Amino acid sequence: MIGITDPDLRKKLAARANGAAVGGNGYLFIFCADLYRIMAAASPEDKAKMRANLSSSFFFQTAVLSAALALQNANLAAESMGLGTVIIGAVNSALPELDEWLNLSEFVIPMAGFAVGVPDEQPEQKPRLPQSVVFFENRYDPDMKESIAQYDRDMELYYEQRTDNKQKANWSQKFIGMLTADLPLGFYTEYIRRKGFALK
Ligand SMILES: Cc1cc2nc3c(=O)[nH]c(=O)nc-3n(C[C@H](O)[C@H](O)[C@H](O)COP(=O)(O)O)c2cc1C
Repeated sequence: MIGITDPDLRKKLAARANGAAVGGNGYLFIFCADLYRIMAAASPEDKAKMRANLSSSFFFQTAVLSAALALQNANLAAESMGLGTVIIGAVNSALPELDEWLNLSEFVIPMAGFAVGVPDEQPEQKPRLPQSVVFFENRYDPDMKESIAQYDRDMELYYEQRTDNKQKANWSQKFIGMLTADLPLGFYTEYIRRKGFALK
């Protein structure tokens, strides 16, 4: 975790990662996946051998999972104290400069920003996906068209009626629209490879 207390650094981040939460009030953390420190005590020869293993997609997912668990633990802790939070994946739009700004070593990659502050509003809760598509007993069930259609109707109503940023949309439409576009994501693969994750 890197706490961003330098106002200039925070301004630079906000200019690249949209949003009031990055530049605004509260405390900003950057949560990183970190497989660097695991090598700190190793000899140069052992480090070379460790890098070969750590560069695999297996350890990439271990590092990402560990960082995500730490982030959600922080989220729960903050909310239990009555604080408000925003997880901000958009800080990744400041790559690769984030490496230089935060002095991130090989095998350390930023996962998400996490803003914590005293909430000045209590927005209504978004409808949640139905339990039938998030919990399965013994076997995954891909037959979920009906449940998703119902959720899309709930989300349409929510987007139409919420106080701010009303829109005509639903959950499926949003993701289909986003994921059928030709997304320029090659930069991210190149970035994590440069950091040591060959993803073999
Ligand atoms: C991995 C991840 C990345 C996110 N990135 C952003 C972001 O860049 N900008 C933003 O405004 N919200 C982002 N969010 C959403 C907010 O954190 C949101 O307030 C939070 O997920 C609450 O969820 P809800 O809208 O389902 O209640 C992200 C959430 C997650 C889980």
